[in-house]
Amino acid sequence: MTAATEFTRQLGIEHPVIGGAMYPCSNPELVAAVSEAGGIGIIQPMSLTYVHGYDFENGVQHIRSLTNKPVGLNLILETSSKVYMERSRQWAHAAAKLGVKFFVTALGDPREMVELAHRHGIVVYHDVTNLKHAQKAFDAGVDGFICVNNQAGGHAGDMTPQALFDAIAPLGKPVICAGGIGDSHGMQQALSLGYAGVQLGSRFIASDECSAHDDYKAAIVEAKAEDIVLTEKLTGVPVAVIKTPYIESIGTKAGPIARWLLSGRRTKHWMRTLYTVQSVWKLKKASVSGSGYKDYWQAGKSAGRINAIKPVAAIMRELCQ
Ligand SMILES: Cc1cc2nc3c(=O)[nH]c(=O)nc-3n(C[C@H](O)[C@H](O)[C@H](O)COP(=O)(O)O)c2cc1C
Repeated sequence: MTAATEFTRQLGIEHPVIGGAMYPCSNPELVAAVSEAGGIGIIQPMSLTYVHGYDFENGVQHIRSLTNKPVGLNLILETSSKVYMERSRQWAHAAAKLGVKFFVTALGDPREMVELAHRHGIVVYHDVTNLKHAQKAFDAGVDGFICVNNQAGGHAGDMTPQALFDAIAPLGKPVICAGGIGDSHGMQQALSLGYAGVQLGSRFIASDECSAHDDYKAAIVEAKAEDIVLTEKLTGVPVAVIKTPYIESIGTKAGPIARWLLSGRRTKHWMRTLYTVQSVWKLKKASVSGSGYKDYWQAGKSAGRINAIKPVAAIMRELCQ
């Protein structure tokens, strides 16, 4: 049984477990199931609207009809797109109105979102991979940090869980370990390092409630940690994916023209927008189609410790036993 931590007390939840936001895998039933089982599920707004077809407010209301326990919202502060930032503001305001209790911000400067959140009693944690970004978020007033390490699914960091804890914990806010945790052993290790909780992504894809394609779930169950590779082909920065024959055939490095455009002061925003639009479409297609399509199946090294597809409640029971 896991003990209460500063994180569980801030949010009034039973277990120090976050079901991490996942584009395109965060369907409403998955988010609600993690919260209902005593952790906290995080809404990924692009996943909710573009992949799963909900109007944002209706989607949040649907999740709230499945659980009355706290849920969170992921806000990616991608300032290079004014349209996306404006959309994020609308999502944040709507979520506050609908009783969302937790914001997980990523990239950019979270100050504006912190001010909005704190006016509504919402707790804000910022995704960080190093001290420089954590210091900026600390100055903006965040309540805690999600430390994304070098084993994480999605955009991985480059520090180990221990090194990242040692770098960020001295700021004096609660820190959450994100990356590499697939079972209770991993969770206990993170808590014993001093983390106030854990964030899991890949483990929850291989669940009954996740609506990703069965082939994707099976690939996670079969993958070993060494089958996870970082590819620049999706977004221009490294993303952890399962090494499928398709990934092997196209390689993992961005081409020389893309690299050149990504490094230019003017062209980099344009190139990032192009990558974002392309990857949003490719990932949606890969998660809903079975094997045979271009298998961009994102997962972290925790896949090596995931051996079966299970209901979220069983995953949570085993994690927190
Ligand atoms: C398929 C997938 C999509 C993800 N999408 C997002 C996202 O949209 N926003 C975000 O902040 N993190 C995203 N992440 C990171 C997760 O929230 C979490 O930090 C990470 O999965 C933890 O590593 P693990 O997969 O080893 O458990 C994603 C991860 C995966 C596997």
